[in-house]
Amino acid sequence: MRKGDKELLSLALMDARNHTLHLFGQYQNALENAHFAVPLLATLNPPLWELGHIAWFQERWIGRNLQRALGTRCAPAQAQLASIEPNADRWWDSDQVKHDTRWTLDVPDMDNCRAYLLNTLESTLELLEKAGSDDDALYFYRLCLFHEDMHGEALTTMAQTIGLSLDKPLLSAFTPPPMALREPMLIPAAAWQMGSPSIAGSGFAFDNEKQAHAIKVPEFEIDAQPVTWAQYVEFVGDGGYDRQELWHPDGWQWLQLQAADEGRRGPRYVEQIGTGSGAVIQTRFGQPMRMQANQPAMHMSWWEADAWCRWAGRRLPAEVEWEVAAHTAARRGFRWGDVWEWMGTTFRPYPGFSPDPYQTYSQPWFGTHKVLRGGSFATRARMKHPKYRNFYLPERDDIFCGFRSCAL
Ligand code: AVJ
Ligand code: FE
Repeated sequence: MRKGDKELLSLALMDARNHTLHLFGQYQNALENAHFAVPLLATLNPPLWELGHIAWFQERWIGRNLQRALGTRCAPAQAQLASIEPNADRWWDSDQVKHDTRWTLDVPDMDNCRAYLLNTLESTLELLEKAGSDDDALYFYRLCLFHEDMHGEALTTMAQTIGLSLDKPLLSAFTPPPMALREPMLIPAAAWQMGSPSIAGSGFAFDNEKQAHAIKVPEFEIDAQPVTWAQYVEFVGDGGYDRQELWHPDGWQWLQLQAADEGRRGPRYVEQIGTGSGAVIQTRFGQPMRMQANQPAMHMSWWEADAWCRWAGRRLPAEVEWEVAAHTAARRGFRWGDVWEWMGTTFRPYPGFSPDPYQTYSQPWFGTHKVLRGGSFATRARMKHPKYRNFYLPERDDIFCGFRSCAL
């Protein structure tokens, strides 16, 4: 999709919108009578805010952007056209509208949010018809597509957080499959081209993937699939949540807070983690479900992933190791894309980084966030890319994340 042409992009933009509206339909079923109220949590946005924000972003960078044809060369501070919705910036500009105030804004009702989504998509598709076909000309269409896909995953994560039930097809699509278990893989030393090239013709890349640069990677051993529930249960059974020596000091502190709040003795949403029986019950979209031994363990913070690794005498992968393995060992059985995977490394700019026109996509989060690679069952297939760098604070356990490990 990063190299998709106009026709493919146009179809993908419509597909992303269908998915957004289908997900929103789940909220409508359960919450329309409650005015779409959700608890004020740092990890959520109100559903109607999410909806309007998707439309706002597209209009901001396409319909209102006079320099849209310039792609990454567009000047970010360039004057924009007015929105078709006079209050759009006051409501949905994520850089300006403080998170907690999103609960008290006078955002439009559902029908008006839907109308704004439709109008802006129509304008986007008309402009796309007339656009050029090189990477610069298509840059903002691709950015807006991926942005909508990311917010689609955010709507899915929020459904998990608030325990919203999903229709049957969605629930089964959002259940990670049991995995064939393979032995850890030895990956030979390599000179690796890390990151995505920014030369014309190479397709879309996020700013945090640039510049491409060479790294020498010594031989390493990496799990062929994410850590499973069967593997995670052993850590719990061995007193993992009681043994301070297994935890990073900040992780231990985080755990004490969770333990005081809600008696946490296992990953988030776990109702029961049988150290004798090995049975794990995790609530998914409001419904307690029995996890299978060879499903990927999910909903653990970076701190828990780090503690598991210390217990196992292993370590989290470096980004470059994961990237080499995903590119070179998929045919040998390196499996990814069911859950996001925590990397051992902090989110930092690559050498020669400079922010692209949407300047706050990456830059504000360098140094504090941890990187996740891969993608989850809630990530659209077109978003899953072995160069993609996701990033969250280490305490996040609401996202669909797990991890794999490397030999020390
Ligand atoms: C890259 C998924 C961490 O959700 O905070 C959406 C994506 N940025 N709108 C996020 C994003 C702006 C971002 N992540
Ligand atoms: Fe956004």
